[in-house]
Amino acid sequence: MVDKFDIVQVRKDFPILDQQVNGAPLVYFDNAATTQKPQVVIDALNQYYTQDNANIHRGLHTLAERATTGYELTRTKLKDFLNTPSTDQIIFTAGVTAGINLVAQTFGRANFSKGDVILVSNLEHHSNIVPWQMIAQETGAEVQVIPVDEVGVLDMEAYGQLLTSNRVKLVAVNHVSNAIGTINPIKQMIDMAHQVGAKVLIDGAQSVAHFDIDVQALDMDFFVFSAHKLFGPTGVGVLYGKREILESMPPYQGGGEMIKEVSFSGTTYNELPYKFEAGTPNIADVYAFGFALDYLKSLPADAVWEQEKSLLDYATEQLSQIDGLRIVGQAPEKIAVVSFVIDGVHPQDVGVLLDKFGVAIRTGHHCAQPLMARYDIVGTCRASFAFYNTKEEIDLFIKALKRCLMMLS
Ligand SMILES: Cc1ncc(COP(=O)(O)O)c(C=O)c1O
Repeated sequence: MVDKFDIVQVRKDFPILDQQVNGAPLVYFDNAATTQKPQVVIDALNQYYTQDNANIHRGLHTLAERATTGYELTRTKLKDFLNTPSTDQIIFTAGVTAGINLVAQTFGRANFSKGDVILVSNLEHHSNIVPWQMIAQETGAEVQVIPVDEVGVLDMEAYGQLLTSNRVKLVAVNHVSNAIGTINPIKQMIDMAHQVGAKVLIDGAQSVAHFDIDVQALDMDFFVFSAHKLFGPTGVGVLYGKREILESMPPYQGGGEMIKEVSFSGTTYNELPYKFEAGTPNIADVYAFGFALDYLKSLPADAVWEQEKSLLDYATEQLSQIDGLRIVGQAPEKIAVVSFVIDGVHPQDVGVLLDKFGVAIRTGHHCAQPLMARYDIVGTCRASFAFYNTKEEIDLFIKALKRCLMMLS
């Protein structure tokens, strides 16, 4: 399989990569923030708006039918992609943030009370911390934290101890840390939580683009991710939930589509998934997202993984040779993300200067301020790779980084 991965062709599939930025070839190493889109996704958006655009579900005319079929086709593709038991457990949202807020405001509101515990980890993105703090404040529940060690691995012994309180209602953890790339042992974490009767929400923002997810094999209660980190459009996300849990949850937002019948004496709610999809959804982007899923499926998965792993190893090796540079997060299990700090240099200065050489990385706290606090740093420089990146780009990045450091010294 591996030899079928044709990097030249793959790069051609992503037209944005072929451009000069500030007089240099673009090196896009900000894939953890958002991924680029293949031509098939761009074409699908164009085709939808030039031929099929209409509102979905209630129209009887041909365009409404086409738009509805296109939108629902993506749900069917996702059933296969995530191995969900049915399509109606797949709820379209605006992204991970929207999905987590939905669960907090429905499941949380219905299930948390004074003294209950919501467990998050020290590795979380703010979007998997703040919604829990908000609902905790309202319900009297408490947010507790699974600690992380020096290299970026979660302390599983501490996790086990935190679970013994018997008041843990929900564990909300990411599959992969966006800030430092750690892959968490989610199967083990889910099994441990289930043993004490807690439910588990997995934030898959950084994992879906890198490995296969089987929500049933992993026994996930909730799984959330954003299409834009999976080579699809912005403004679309997915919330998967176990049927009995989703059915027990009250609706989130009220409005069109989420109802069965409305009268001034009372309203009955729609079936899954529509109960949680109030209003006109992001039809075009959901439709185009289906093409991103097809595109990913067409690539040889093993070769994609190999490509990313070789980029991670090469970048780690090259960066480690730079004086005064320290890699933050060296977990044995990592995706292709390298976060680093350099003695006496502010990450932002590095980011701004690298851009002058056409290199796009991310600097700052990566929406993970508690993790930065854990390591006593203000932020890091983060290079994050996708399968369309190359070792030659890493060479350009390292060369540019060395020039930046000379300019800053
Ligand atoms: C781990 C993780 N969780 C949540 C999010 C939030 O995703 P979105 O902004 O698409 O809602 C991100 C985005 O960077 C992330 O990396």
